[in-house]
Amino acid sequence: MIYLNGQYMPIEKAKISVLDRGFIFGDGVYEVIPVYSRRAFRLESHLQRLQHSLDGIRLPNPHSGAAWTAIINELIARNAPQDQYLYLHITRGVAKRDHAFPNPPVKPTVFMMSNPLLTPPAALLASGVGAVSAEDNRWLRCDIKAIALLPNVLLRQMAIDAGCAETILIRENEFMTEGAASNIFVVKNGKLLAPPKDNLMLPGITYDVVLEIAAASHIPHEVRRIAAVEVFAADELLLTSSTKEVLAITTLDGKPVGTGKPGPMFARLHKLYQDFKRDVMRQPSPLPPGEG
Ligand code: PDD
Repeated sequence: MIYLNGQYMPIEKAKISVLDRGFIFGDGVYEVIPVYSRRAFRLESHLQRLQHSLDGIRLPNPHSGAAWTAIINELIARNAPQDQYLYLHITRGVAKRDHAFPNPPVKPTVFMMSNPLLTPPAALLASGVGAVSAEDNRWLRCDIKAIALLPNVLLRQMAIDAGCAETILIRENEFMTEGAASNIFVVKNGKLLAPPKDNLMLPGITYDVVLEIAAASHIPHEVRRIAAVEVFAADELLLTSSTKEVLAITTLDGKPVGTGKPGPMFARLHKLYQDFKRDVMRQPSPLPPGEG
């Protein structure tokens, strides 16, 4: 079951206009929210990031936080899997084709669907994945989770064409930003390095979790700009996203990263992430005082 503009329906029944500005211009934003044991993970952070994206494209938020929460919980309830990932998509609505915003404004299109959350299988965790590097040729507002993903699509396909899983993006031949659809961490001499959240990368929710886990477990870490040369000389490379969680990158441009096998930092962070999922994400939120 999906949600479209106020109604729940099977995906086959869902229809939108060919004049939707999402279809015509890619004029919209999206979110991907993982659901563990039927609970939306870090919903508040996802809704804050959604607000940031909407502000970035000057589109008023069609719903309050409470209304979003109700729609999201209803969609989770109407879909069977315990673990799901929700795809939430808002466009500037349906209007005659004109680059300028519709005036007066029209109702935004709101679409949400649920898919089973399939995290990476054991074999992939054990082997790690390959990556290629490429020039980050996207725009300067990569902090907006825009539905216009053509650069990311082309960049990701470079990895697939090389038999790899992800493309690591380098700006101006100088420094690393992120992956085509993930955030990237570098490990050197036992230290976890992460690029700073700025306009050149998507502020990942999984990125936040990994840095929080590292801090709580006293893992040496630093958030700073990472030079391209450091990526190519890394002991380990990790990628993170809501659907992939934490994965080791074991080859880059056909050469082994470190030993060419998932390293000790990956093993530690992956275990801590799974512990966190079991102990925090899957547990019911504590009842407010006076209830239960
Ligand atoms: N993508 N950077 C980019 C460019 C991304 O597309 C994503 C996620 C991330 C990681 O963000 P998070 O940890 O919040 O998932 C970083 C999602 C999964 C997608 O487009 O399907």
